Amino acid sequence: MEDLTPRREDLDPIEIASRDEISTLQLKRMKQSLQHAYDNVPLYKQRFDEAGVHPDDLKSLSDLSKFPFTYKQDLRDTYPFGMFAVPQDKIVRLHGSSGTTGKPTVVGYTQNDLDVWASVVARSLRASGTRPGDIVHNAYGYGLFTGGMGAHAGAEKLGCTVVPVSGGMTSRQVLLIEDFKPSTIMVTPSYMLNILEEYHREGLDPRKSSLKVGIFGAEPWTNAMRKEVEEAFDMHAVDIYGLSEVIGPGVANECVETKDGLHIWEDHFYPEVINPETGEPVADGEIGELVFTSLTKEALPIVRYRTRDLTRLLPGTARSMRRMEKITGRSDDMIILRGVNVFPTQIEEQLIATDGLSPHFQIELYKKGRMDAMRIHVEAMPNATSSEAKDTSAYHFSKRIKDTVGISAQVVVADPGVVERSQGKAKRVVDNRAKE
Ligand code: DLL
Repeated sequence: MEDLTPRREDLDPIEIASRDEISTLQLKRMKQSLQHAYDNVPLYKQRFDEAGVHPDDLKSLSDLSKFPFTYKQDLRDTYPFGMFAVPQDKIVRLHGSSGTTGKPTVVGYTQNDLDVWASVVARSLRASGTRPGDIVHNAYGYGLFTGGMGAHAGAEKLGCTVVPVSGGMTSRQVLLIEDFKPSTIMVTPSYMLNILEEYHREGLDPRKSSLKVGIFGAEPWTNAMRKEVEEAFDMHAVDIYGLSEVIGPGVANECVETKDGLHIWEDHFYPEVINPETGEPVADGEIGELVFTSLTKEALPIVRYRTRDLTRLLPGTARSMRRMEKITGRSDDMIILRGVNVFPTQIEEQLIATDGLSPHFQIELYKKGRMDAMRIHVEAMPNATSSEAKDTSAYHFSKRIKDTVGISAQVVVADPGVVERSQGKAKRVVDNRAKE
């Protein structure tokens, strides 16, 4: 793989500033942001007053822990625009979070918010090894989801040529990659697997494609998956993180030269990791729930937003800004099976390590008598579809799960193509426990 490390002089100076400079900027911006939220969003005023705190009480960054949390439910309760801090005629764009049922949570942007967003996504692309002038194939979904338009604006801002493909029509994705020769693809990791599968179906060699960089996010994925995709396409695979309530993609991104977790763009988004039960901040290095406070957002300032994502904060490496470890999973996705906590990423890791099985999977939860049980639907590789081969793969996979995760799961090995494919975020867990 080509060395795509960006030149130091091309980085935003703040990316490699001293920690003192970064904290000074953060404190200044945090004061302004808390004041803006307090003055313009009734819910924040009420919450701060109830907690007996005022923006003036923030004397140091650690004082943030005195302020109340914000939850997804707050956005739902104030649906659609109740948490906007500017008049509606200053809002130039709306997006919605990717809830699958009911009303979406709505987020809004001023022109300045869009500019900041584009600049953090441009920074993310540059950290990934993409360069001005490159062609970027953008297969994140366009629409209310922030992935498509967020990635699009950032790639334009960096000076790239954007191909706004969106998700779906996988054979056309392959055609456009082969014909337009992009250096970079932006897509969910699960959909990248479908594109890979289409390459094989068409008898094309993915290693000969023009792709040098894949920027994968919007759902959890593992280092095992990184290796798999990097080898299959002979390209770099880096992780991009974000959420609509905070801005969209581009809150944090891995650097191509280190791939050791995602640098949080801390000049705009202030991270904390807390113990999800007590709400107390934990020390850097300890695992907990990620919480974000926006530092520059105008339309929707967000204070101590509970992401439900589990990770830990680590010191900077390729940049001065702190890193977050690859997300293990969302607390909502955590499965508790007979007292053992299980995340779909742990299953993915073991699946990729098992010969004879492809990386597509779906977890089904069901009731076995009064107990919860797990069934994992996977697929045989095209060269391992005989019933003996399937039995062997199933045996090895469930043994690995037992040995590493510590649970007994039933494994169902189907023929290639049977497990549900995603065009965006994959649905990893199907809960049928209420059905039986
Ligand atoms: O998924 C924004 C995004 C688009 C990020 C494209 C990256 C690329 P939401 O739809 O609001 O926004 O979903 C946010 O997705 O809280 C995480 O649970 C999950 N998520 C996003 N990126 C990652 C990642 C977009 N790199 C929710 N790894 C977040 C793990 C991720 N989970």
